[in-house]
Amino acid sequence: MNLTLRIWRQSGPDESGEMVTYQVTDVSPDMSFLEMLDILNEDLILRGEQPVAFDHDCREGICGSCGMVINGSAHGPVQTTTCQLHMRSFNDGDVIDIEPWRAAAFPVIKDLVVDRSAFDRIIQAGGYISAPTGTAPDAHAVPVPKPDADLAFENATCIGCGACVAACPNGSAMLFTSAKINHLNVLPQGQPERESRVLDMVTTMDAEGFGGCTNTGECAAACPKGIPLASIATMNREFLRAARKAPR
Ligand code: SF4
Ligand code: FES
Repeated sequence: MNLTLRIWRQSGPDESGEMVTYQVTDVSPDMSFLEMLDILNEDLILRGEQPVAFDHDCREGICGSCGMVINGSAHGPVQTTTCQLHMRSFNDGDVIDIEPWRAAAFPVIKDLVVDRSAFDRIIQAGGYISAPTGTAPDAHAVPVPKPDADLAFENATCIGCGACVAACPNGSAMLFTSAKINHLNVLPQGQPERESRVLDMVTTMDAEGFGGCTNTGECAAACPKGIPLASIATMNREFLRAARKAPR
């Protein structure tokens, strides 16, 4: 496949950026999208030009670092991570637009790399437990009802990629924050911080400049791990419950 790429190039956080057009040739449909970008970068390096900066680490859909907007969609045309997107999803001769996550709370560092440390600060505000864990406990030492275990696991699959924020017209981080709150709040080990967790994490989310939720559902549609929109409703119920109990 021969492709035309239009890529956002921005040399630093305080520089202005622009879309720059590149040609890539002999792309195999079996390559991942990142491998296709590797080919472009090798070519740019050989020509003495700056390679395109993009985040990546595991390249197997678990670390969440490979975020970019492809043809206007977070992670591109398939509901997966960019590293798990394959070139067979495109056609020979296609023109592909590649941009960084667009959200006020995710400022661009360089090219396609954005600063997602706001997510770290939300997790630091409450994404932990204080129960002593010690060595690995016996499997059934702390009984957890099956529905609660399933709900905790579903929410724990969030990889912190930020696609939900990038897809949301409000730049809201409520799907991410709800996943991080819910996966601990439903477990027995998460109960000591149940109220402070939701209050502190939601407060930090707001302070970081993420927008509010207006139920468009774009976040869940873009989430590569299938975190459901219902997670936000669960978080909202947890928030109201905690706010009612909080000392005035
Ligand atoms: S909720 Fe989904 S889209 Fe949002 S950060 Fe987690 S895995 Fe990514
Ligand atoms: S590089 Fe880790 S999820 Fe894509």
